[in-house]
Amino acid sequence: MEKQRENFGSKFGVIAAAAGSAVGLGNIYRFPCEAGENGGGAFLIVYLLIIVFLGIPLMLSEFIIGRRSHRNTVGAFKTLAPKTAWPIVGFVGVISSFLILAFYSTIAGWTLECIYKSLINFYHGKNISEIEQGMTNFNNSFRPFIWQTLFIILTAFIVLKGIEKGIEKYAKVLMPMLFVILIILCVKSLTLPNATEGLKFFFKPDFSKITPEVCISALGQAFFSLSVGMGVQITYGSYINKKDNLLTSSTSVVMTDTLVAILAGITIFPAAFSMGISPKAGAGLAFNTLPLIFNQMAGGYIFCLIFFILLAIAALTSTISLLEASVAYFVEEHSIKRKKATIWCAIGALIVGLFATLSLQDNSNIVIGNMSFFNILDNLTANILMPVGGLLITIFIGWQLKKTAFIDELTNQGTTKIALKNIIFFIIKYIAPLAIVTIIVGRLVFNIK
Ligand code: PFF
Repeated sequence: MEKQRENFGSKFGVIAAAAGSAVGLGNIYRFPCEAGENGGGAFLIVYLLIIVFLGIPLMLSEFIIGRRSHRNTVGAFKTLAPKTAWPIVGFVGVISSFLILAFYSTIAGWTLECIYKSLINFYHGKNISEIEQGMTNFNNSFRPFIWQTLFIILTAFIVLKGIEKGIEKYAKVLMPMLFVILIILCVKSLTLPNATEGLKFFFKPDFSKITPEVCISALGQAFFSLSVGMGVQITYGSYINKKDNLLTSSTSVVMTDTLVAILAGITIFPAAFSMGISPKAGAGLAFNTLPLIFNQMAGGYIFCLIFFILLAIAALTSTISLLEASVAYFVEEHSIKRKKATIWCAIGALIVGLFATLSLQDNSNIVIGNMSFFNILDNLTANILMPVGGLLITIFIGWQLKKTAFIDELTNQGTTKIALKNIIFFIIKYIAPLAIVTIIVGRLVFNIK
């Protein structure tokens, strides 16, 4: 069955594509929201610890599983652990990526609306309540559906082209662009009056704010942000060249993702403080606060426009990876043609996604308890499926695949020297599962939503 399978063409291509998956709305929109709601600096410290001790090992584990098996998420477990129940983990991962694509495309669609509004200079001269009202009106209209559909079509178009000519080619251009734009915005934001207040909020930890709730939010955010715990990185790992150093690749991806999240915080918090807007403004931070700030500065029109283009690019490289995870599964496990698989997965995600979008409208009755369908999908994937998936992936490496196979793959069959290989394996086998279990149990004990 090992037909000619596509690979990434270069190491930079791998890093750009995997970092493209990781860097997304999660960094620029969700991270500042979560940090703002969970104590700023305190959240940041927990987040960074999780990134180093769980994020890197998990990213590496997924790359190892993917490259060793040369298969999609389900096929990978089938190949490495035949006749076991492990493929279920892969299957749940594919479902998670599909569900994330559904609700993620809602917000991705918002970025297109904001690009449009920036282009027509909608924000000019508006105050915060007018901007907020504009967003509410938009949400309650049919326009979110149009943008969401367009976004999914764009994603499908790139996935259709395959790995090297589609995903890699676009990621290699889009990712560096994103960095340049973000740095320009960051510098701009830091020069605003009162910027230091925002920096203090973001960087000064108040340890009394570190609660189990903050820990689970940080864990969920870290996994969501890195796109780990559900097999997207297994799928990308399967396209990595046999000679690449997986440790340096995974570390580069994690560092890039974290850097972008921190740069987003450095852009958004000083801006919010300088305008007297609460850092807990949630979704409004990126979508309402920033246009207001751009409004009041020289060159604001163009900065606003590039900010939303940046958000759209970040979202696009993530939706590509989400769709690819499902497509690779259907192509390889059910022998469906790439074109057909892409179109049907995209249509499926769009249908579920439309309900997610609808659930955010005022007076929507697509709610369970007091949570919208959108929030249910978000919580289910980020706070449950991804942490549990991550846990099972580390257990798989530590206890099923075992050390010899792990080290063999990590060192490229003994040809690449990896100094910390034993420590890394120890972390994956013992520390990571224990830490994830502690956080999940802590959350249940403290009964956090
Ligand atoms: N990591 C992406 C972000 O931070 O926006 C979201 C995401 C993409 C999550 C792909 C999961 C995934 F598989």
